[in-house]
Amino acid sequence: MSQLQNDLLLRALKGETLQRPPVWMMRQAGRYLPDYMKLKAKYGFFERCENPELASEITIQPVEQVGVDAAIFFSDILVVPAAMGLEVQMIEGKGPLLPDPIKNISDLKKLIVPDVNEKLGYVFDGLKMTKEKLAGRVSLIGFAGAPWTLLCYMVQGKGSKTFDEAKGFCYSQPETAHALLQMITDTTIAYLKGQAKAGADVVQIFDSWGGLLSPADFENFSLQYIRQIVAALKDEVPTIIFAKGAWFALEEMAATGAHGLGIDWCIKPELARQFAGNNITLQGNFDPAKLLGPIPEIQKAAKAMIDAFGTTRYIANLGHGILPNVPVDHARAFVDTVKSYKQ
Ligand code: CP3
Repeated sequence: MSQLQNDLLLRALKGETLQRPPVWMMRQAGRYLPDYMKLKAKYGFFERCENPELASEITIQPVEQVGVDAAIFFSDILVVPAAMGLEVQMIEGKGPLLPDPIKNISDLKKLIVPDVNEKLGYVFDGLKMTKEKLAGRVSLIGFAGAPWTLLCYMVQGKGSKTFDEAKGFCYSQPETAHALLQMITDTTIAYLKGQAKAGADVVQIFDSWGGLLSPADFENFSLQYIRQIVAALKDEVPTIIFAKGAWFALEEMAATGAHGLGIDWCIKPELARQFAGNNITLQGNFDPAKLLGPIPEIQKAAKAMIDAFGTTRYIANLGHGILPNVPVDHARAFVDTVKSYKQ
């Protein structure tokens, strides 16, 4: 395998002293790039995910067109529920739809902890192909949804701002909820190990809905499963946990042994550092909607963000995914500001 020419992301996760932080953007693959839109018009969503050629092409677009320091593999967190036996559709303009969601213990019998090579081998093939095409230009990030966030979709059956049906399921049928979370966890451990074997240099766990839970419920329904995943992976591949809105658990998440923690824009960098401690890399936390503002403001705010976090044990990123309507030159201005940062 070719040696990485740009290993800034890995060095930031190891805590090396850097002149400037690495930069990438969550959800950078797909969404806002015109070349992605062309492929989107031609192929269905899961068709794009399941075709290693297309997935690798989409993964590399932001490296070549925006200049980020890392590629995140193009796929979706919902390929895991599909591999476990649930039907998952992606409705244009609406988002995911799982027509036959989990409601009770008997629904669990429909699910399996799959052989990941059999059901998700297309992701591993896509990662291998991407690794070859990147030829060491930048590091490659694999990912999975956190068990709690996947449960949200598997129970609610669609997107939601509150996921109250999913929460109601956990509070009224806790044993079934924990059985489901454990099945997702076991699948995810095998899946992320497979991604590392296929060439992912780093893996990120997306807990997009972690912040909907109280601190005690976050520990019970989310963090205890994330902890298992990190423990199973940490000697094989560096892990980053991104639990949106879960600033209250930064200290506990840092104690899992993860190498990095993603944070959103609702917490001050100084406070995030205080909660997380000095031995972990922080990643974030630019408000994605700020990329809709004028370029000089983006430059000013991105520089202020790095001033606050410092250049060591820090990865510049957004606080959540890039929005589909961000102009490409605004995304590029954000990336260029980080790359030309001088202390
Ligand atoms: O980061 C990347 O660019 C890699 C690709 C990636 C996608 N989804 C592609 C995608 C990643 C990392 C994800 C993660 C994901 N998927 C999350 C966690 C991160 C987050 O944003 O909170 C979640 C909650 C999902 C579930 C999901 N997939 C939703 C809610 C939707 C519809 C709305 C939306 O966010 O666009 C998707 C569809 C999806 N996944 C698209 C893309 C590029 C858009 C559909 C399309 O382009 O056809």
